[in-house]
Amino acid sequence: MSLSMKIQGLYSQSYLDLLTKIGNIAYDMELKAYTVGGFVRDLLLQKPNYDIDIMVEGDALPYAVKVGQELNAECKLVERFHTAHIYYKDLTIDFSSARKEYYGRPGELPIVSFSNIKDDLYRRDFTINAMAMSITPDKPFELVDLYKGNLDLAEKRIKILHPRSFIDDPSRLYRAVRFADRFGFYLEANTEYQFDKALCINAPKTLSIKRIAAEIDKCFQEKNPLTLLSKYQTYGLLKYYHKSFIEYSHPTFSFGIVSALTTRMKRNFPQISENAIFWALLLSNIPEAEVKQLQNNSGLPHSVGNQVSEALDTWANIENKLQIAKTNFEIYKILKDTCPEALALIYLKRNSKDIENKICIYIDKLASIKPIITGNDLIEAGIKPGPQIRQILDKIVEKKIEGIELTRKEEIDLARTIQNI
Ligand code: CTP
Repeated sequence: MSLSMKIQGLYSQSYLDLLTKIGNIAYDMELKAYTVGGFVRDLLLQKPNYDIDIMVEGDALPYAVKVGQELNAECKLVERFHTAHIYYKDLTIDFSSARKEYYGRPGELPIVSFSNIKDDLYRRDFTINAMAMSITPDKPFELVDLYKGNLDLAEKRIKILHPRSFIDDPSRLYRAVRFADRFGFYLEANTEYQFDKALCINAPKTLSIKRIAAEIDKCFQEKNPLTLLSKYQTYGLLKYYHKSFIEYSHPTFSFGIVSALTTRMKRNFPQISENAIFWALLLSNIPEAEVKQLQNNSGLPHSVGNQVSEALDTWANIENKLQIAKTNFEIYKILKDTCPEALALIYLKRNSKDIENKICIYIDKLASIKPIITGNDLIEAGIKPGPQIRQILDKIVEKKIEGIELTRKEEIDLARTIQNI
C-alpha cells in the first residue's frame, strides 16, 4: 500500500488538508518540507500520531512564521535552535531546519549547523525514526527512506545509524529499550554491541537528572510501564537516576496494578493523576533526606510535582493513624482530606490486609458519602456561621456512614437538632 493510501486511511480529510496546506506554503517559498521521525514511523505501522514534526531544508523560522499567519495560529520561535512551534486547534506542530550535529562532549547538547535532509536523517537515533515524508505538492506524501528504516520496521529491528550514537546521546539507551518494548522489536547485533559498550563505560553518567527523568516519564506514558521500568532496571539504567536503584528488586514496584487502581478510583476521584502515582511510587524508594532534591532536579511539571510531594509527605503518617482506626467514621475522618495520589500510594505500599481493607472501604464507598446540604444551606436555615457548621456537616456524614439514609429536609432537621444539643 502506498504512503498516500496509508495516510488517507488513517487521518481525517481536514488533517490531510492541513498537511497539504503546510506543504503548499513551503513550495511557494521554494523550500522542501517533510514530516519526519515518529510521525512517519507510525504511519508506516498504520498507527495515528498527532505529533507533527516538520523539517525543512533551509531556515525553518520564516517558514513557521508564514504558516502561523496563514493558519491564524500562535507561533513560538526558538531562535537559538532555529526551531518553532505552532499551536493550531489542539495540535502542536514543531518546525526545524535540516541540520548536521557535532557532539562536543558526550551527553551534552550538540553543536548544530544548517544542512540537508541526508545529514538531518543521519543525525537521528534509529533507522526507524530516520525516515521522512515529503509534503510539498511536487512530491505529495512521498517516502524518503535513505537508511532502510522501512526494512528495519518490517523486520522488527532497532538499529543505530552510526557507531557513536549512544555515546553522543546516551538518552538513546533508554529510547532503544522503550521502542523495543513498545513495538516488540529487537536490537540489531551491532546496535546491541554498541549499547553494551556504552553501558560498560557508564555513558548515561553524562546525562542530567532532568533528561533521565524525562525518559522515565516517557516510560510512564507507555502501555506497560511496569515491564518497561523493569527492563530499564535489568539493563542497569535506573541507577543513573538515583543510586538507590543499584540494589533494587523490581517486584516491589507494584506498577502493574496502578492502572487498574486508577481506573477504579476515577469514579470517586475524577482528578486522580496516574502519572503522579507512578512518580510517587518510584520516589518512595529513595531515602527521605534525598528525595526532595531529586524531585527538584527532575523538572516534573508543577502540578505533578505538587501531587507527588503531597503523596510522599502524607502516606507514612496516615498509614500509622489508619492502623488504629476502628469505625468507618474514624477511617473517613483520617482520609477525608488526603489527596487521591496519597491514598493510592498507601494502598500500593500497604503491608497488611487491614490497611488494604480500610483504604478500599474509603475509596470505593466512604469517599462518595457527602451531605446533600451545604454550609450555605445551614446558614440560610438560620444556623450561625462558624466552626459549628463543619461540625454539623461532619455529624450528618457520620449518620450517613452509619447507614442512615437522609433526605435534604431530614438533613436540615438533623442539623437543627444537633445545634440545639
Ligand atoms: N530523536 C533522536 N534522538 C533523540 C531524540 C529524538 O534522534 N535522543 C529524533 C528521532 O528521529 C525521533 C524524533 O527526533 O523520531 C522525535 O523525537 P521524539 O518526539 O522524542 O520521539 P518519537 O520518535 O516521536 O517517539 P514517541 O512516539 O515516543 O513520541
